[in-house]
Amino acid sequence: YEIYLNGMAGAVPRLPTDLTRLEELAEHRLGAGPVGYVAGSAGDGSTARANRAALDRQWIVPRLLRDVRERDLTVEVLGRTLPAPLALAPVGVLSIVHPDAESAAARAAAAQGVPYVLSSASSTPMEEVAEVMGDAERWFQLYWAKDREVTRSFLARARATGFSVLVVTLDTPMLGWRPRDLERAYLPFLHGVGTANYFSDPAFGAGLAKPVHEDPDAAVLHFLGMFGDPGKTWPDLAFLREHWDGPIVLKGVLHPDDARLAADAGMDGVVVSNHGGRQVAGCVGAADALPGVAEAVGDRLTVLFDSGVRTGDDIFKALALGARAVLVGRPYVYGLALDGHSGVEHVVRSLLAEFDLTLALSGHRTPATIDGACLAATPV
Ligand code: FNR
Repeated sequence: YEIYLNGMAGAVPRLPTDLTRLEELAEHRLGAGPVGYVAGSAGDGSTARANRAALDRQWIVPRLLRDVRERDLTVEVLGRTLPAPLALAPVGVLSIVHPDAESAAARAAAAQGVPYVLSSASSTPMEEVAEVMGDAERWFQLYWAKDREVTRSFLARARATGFSVLVVTLDTPMLGWRPRDLERAYLPFLHGVGTANYFSDPAFGAGLAKPVHEDPDAAVLHFLGMFGDPGKTWPDLAFLREHWDGPIVLKGVLHPDDARLAADAGMDGVVVSNHGGRQVAGCVGAADALPGVAEAVGDRLTVLFDSGVRTGDDIFKALALGARAVLVGRPYVYGLALDGHSGVEHVVRSLLAEFDLTLALSGHRTPATIDGACLAATPV
């Protein structure tokens, strides 16, 4: 009701509450390079479209007369209680859209109590991000480097600075074919501080002939050569288990058999995701893959979801399809681009307010009662 009260007092929200309009506004304000980086997806954009189509063909079937005065949005995720089933997805090199970059996103997440997942490829060293977050919930996303020492160093740094959950992104052993970025010679790596989290790492530095500031081009090439490793296989996960004593979540899982392998390998969760459509073109829409994964491992692993979430009803649908919570990517990046940490807070608050209303108007007081019976799918 805050928005209505403010409206009656003559104040309208500074940013659109419709996140599609917010996205359009941000794309209009940002230059072609940054828009290409954020909006860009693999190939002709087919997977990003599939993500939306998969959510758009699910429809909520509300229930009535169920006393929804008091609602409680909290969910248990990986042994922690979150205020709502929402977290900010890891997005690298946020300095491309705003000078306050990851620190601003992290501050906003902390203010709203939602977990912030910091990318390995952040433009801000993880220690600085931890500093602005205080005790707030933060997770660390790992790009699993070829260089074992760098991986070990990242895990030790993340642990020492209070990151609690390790999110290992497995869909990016190399970067996808992203025409809008390729046309700009891959903007993130031309961007001076693009990889500061690596550049500040002692193990990364040890692999360079000269210090980063003396030969930044060589440092970027070194980064590109080692940040991912297409040679990894399932048994390699034992290394991560050995060096991380908190929960480990595998991000990018779409096939039920991979979800089973994750459970067999002693992992704690999966994020059903196709990286927002940025890796494999012609890939299954993430929400279409979600029920299969939830069915395969829902009783053994925490199932999270991202790719295409834009509204509160999308969150509801993802939960009904089997997710415990969702991550959101591009919308908060656009909020950041338009208004720094306030813009990110605006996006989080809008999503949560809409989710709360959707929950109530569909006849639910908590996320726990949302299940497959709450949806009707458009017949294909
Ligand atoms: C990403 N994503 C991502 N994922 C990851 O594990 N590490 C990373 O560094 C990045 N970087 C990144 C940059 C940009 C610009 C985008 C848009 C996305 C993927 C991200 O975590 C998430 O999976 C998607 O963004 C979810 O899809 P939506 O919400 O953007 O549709």
